[in-house]
Amino acid sequence: MIGVFDSGYGGLTILRQFQSLLPGYDWLYLGDNARAPYGTRSFDIVYDFTRQAVDHLFREGCPLVILACNTASAKALRTIQQEVLPRHWPDRRVLGVIRPTVESVGSITKSRHVGLLATPGTVNSHSYQMEMAKLDPDITITEVACPMWVPIIENGEADGDGADWFVRKYIDRIMEADPLIDTILLGCTHYPLLLPKIRKYVPDHVRIVPQGEIVANSLADYLRRHPEIDSRCRKNGRVWFHTTENPEKFDTLAEMFLNEPVNAKKIIL
Ligand code: DGL
Repeated sequence: MIGVFDSGYGGLTILRQFQSLLPGYDWLYLGDNARAPYGTRSFDIVYDFTRQAVDHLFREGCPLVILACNTASAKALRTIQQEVLPRHWPDRRVLGVIRPTVESVGSITKSRHVGLLATPGTVNSHSYQMEMAKLDPDITITEVACPMWVPIIENGEADGDGADWFVRKYIDRIMEADPLIDTILLGCTHYPLLLPKIRKYVPDHVRIVPQGEIVANSLADYLRRHPEIDSRCRKNGRVWFHTTENPEKFDTLAEMFLNEPVNAKKIIL
């Protein structure tokens, strides 16, 4: 199985794209819903939680794990890749979502002014700005943290009337911070679940970029380039779900997001 990890339900927006682009593969999704959101937690806590999640997915047999979470990618990916894998899991791999997203920006923006909406953790890490500076230094990224969006989604209020107020607040803030923005990156895998409301408040000329498709294309490319990993991924078109919260609660919300029956197992990290 390929492991897909997020703090909660957000990674399901990525899993959905993985399943549609790579339908033959087996997936194990892990949501640390009991401890979500991660976006307002400190660096070392996000690292510890992510490390536990990755260890769990490796113990379950995943040769490859995708951190389908920007906060975990920003705060834990590099240390896991550089220190944990060589020492403890030399034949396994972990990939994140930030690099492929940044790589796709250059071909989308014309004004070279890009907005990033993300969790406070991702924004404070400035990972997007740093990656962008390496790849395409003429693109300016304006970052705005949206601390209320993940709690709204994790509590099943994405379609509620109360969500509008907070969606509009952060979009107005980013457009005021840089009116030349022509592209807004949704730098949190939860945010596509708010897309209908986000579309309502983003000006028409601004392109909204969710990450699912970008990350799925990048994974497909990775598997083509790494046959030694690809050959270890089981391919029966199946999917399993693990959660650290109550599984019935997970099933109800996950079914809403995925439009298919979900039968999660509760695990302890
Ligand atoms: N979905 C996650 C991300 O992409 C984490 C959100 C959170 O737990 O705050 O950042």
